[in-house]
Amino acid sequence: MKKINQILIGTHNKGKFKEISDLLPKKIKKISPVELNIESPIENGSTFIENSQIKAHFFCKKSNLLTLSDDSGLEVECLNNEPGIYSSRLADQYGGFYNAMIEILKRVEESGKKNTKAKFVSVLTIQWPDGKKISETGEIIGNISKIRGNNGFGYDPIFMPIGFSQTFGEMNYKKKLMMDHRFLAYKKLESKIKDYF
Ligand code: IMP
Repeated sequence: MKKINQILIGTHNKGKFKEISDLLPKKIKKISPVELNIESPIENGSTFIENSQIKAHFFCKKSNLLTLSDDSGLEVECLNNEPGIYSSRLADQYGGFYNAMIEILKRVEESGKKNTKAKFVSVLTIQWPDGKKISETGEIIGNISKIRGNNGFGYDPIFMPIGFSQTFGEMNYKKKLMMDHRFLAYKKLESKIKDYF
């Protein structure tokens, strides 16, 4: 069995890149698509798993390196689980994450449902150049909160996980890293690939 000594982390999102790097063993060299001048693929899947596999396949083919990709997003129950796979695109549409968070809060308010339940979902896919791939999903349940905190990235300031009184935006980096949706997906994946470490 060929041991893993380097891995391409298939994302241009700096927040994700850092989290995934910090979850992987220190001894593995982490490579960014930026270093190899590889752009992002078009995400035309209709589920997190499809988009995760599209990214892993694309970056792996372009680099010929073992690749780990994530597709993730925020599902808000009273908004029919939107923005979901469109989480990143909502931010593009509204000119950034701050405006997208304001928009989500407005839509939740307008829904009149008084239901603030939400979850973050991550699907991690590891793909080898020979075509073998494994995908795993992680989910963390919580509630939509008023914008609080400056830590993290993306929608962190409006997500408060169940059982906590801080949003991800208020939590310190390590605390969020060791409990979020990506961590949960990674733990499942790790149990299947740890013999390669
Ligand atoms: P994509 O997977 O590249 O399509 O983007 C996922 C979107 O969800 C991005 O806009 C992220 O910022 C957001 N997102 C995913 N994970 C997190 C997280 O841990 N915190 C905050 N936002 C996240």
